[in-house]
Amino acid sequence: MIYPRIIAHRCGGALAPENTLAGLRLAARLGCGGVEFDTMLAADGVPVLMHDETLERTTSGCGRVADLDSISLARFDAGSRHHPAFAAEPVPTLEEALRLCAALGLWANVEIKPAAGQEVVTGQVVARHAAAATGKLLLSSFSSRALLAAADEAVQLPRAMLFEAIPADWRERLMETGVCALHSAASGLSVDALQAVRDAGFPVACYTVNRRDEAERLFAMGVSAVFTDRPDLWTPAEM
Ligand code: G3P
Ligand code: MG
Repeated sequence: MIYPRIIAHRCGGALAPENTLAGLRLAARLGCGGVEFDTMLAADGVPVLMHDETLERTTSGCGRVADLDSISLARFDAGSRHHPAFAAEPVPTLEEALRLCAALGLWANVEIKPAAGQEVVTGQVVARHAAAATGKLLLSSFSSRALLAAADEAVQLPRAMLFEAIPADWRERLMETGVCALHSAASGLSVDALQAVRDAGFPVACYTVNRRDEAERLFAMGVSAVFTDRPDLWTPAEM
């Protein structure tokens, strides 16, 4: 598994509205090699880019993402909460995001972010869309059930398991889901656990790293990539 070193968190990090096509365009302009975004199912089963189960924090809509169809979601403004300059930026579908990543040459980490109770179907549907994409990508999730469902649907796609901290039973968790990499919060990372995971052949990527010195410390420890809200801290040659 080859990672870009610097991955723009939620598309463009803090510089653009999260999980939007504007974020992807900005990440590409900054010279990012890779982006991460979250995907969840709308009521009609279409995967859209969204982090929260509810719309209020990032969009002009209200209520649950899982209760509204993708056409209704697309009408909400997902840009103005970040800055009025991004007014009318829509909630993109996963398909739109993957098409744009391929066109911009962006490696994509598609995080499967199921609404509660929708782990299996979200894993299946996201993997089906990802398998049809032409760009390079990696699936990830905090949900073992979503990761297993994704593998049933598209076994050829690389997958990573997400943790808030590397757990004591990391080996069993990685084996039972069959993933090829581990993603952990940088704050929960212990040197010994990192070394053990790497020695077992699993690359480790860390979120969310918004300082250069912290990223350098993690790279020196053997971390393969960092997710950042501040991709502007690096030059294109460094990413
Ligand atoms: O995939 C890394 C990171 O995005 C996981 O946390 O909550 O930002 O999706 P979150
Ligand atoms: Mg995420």
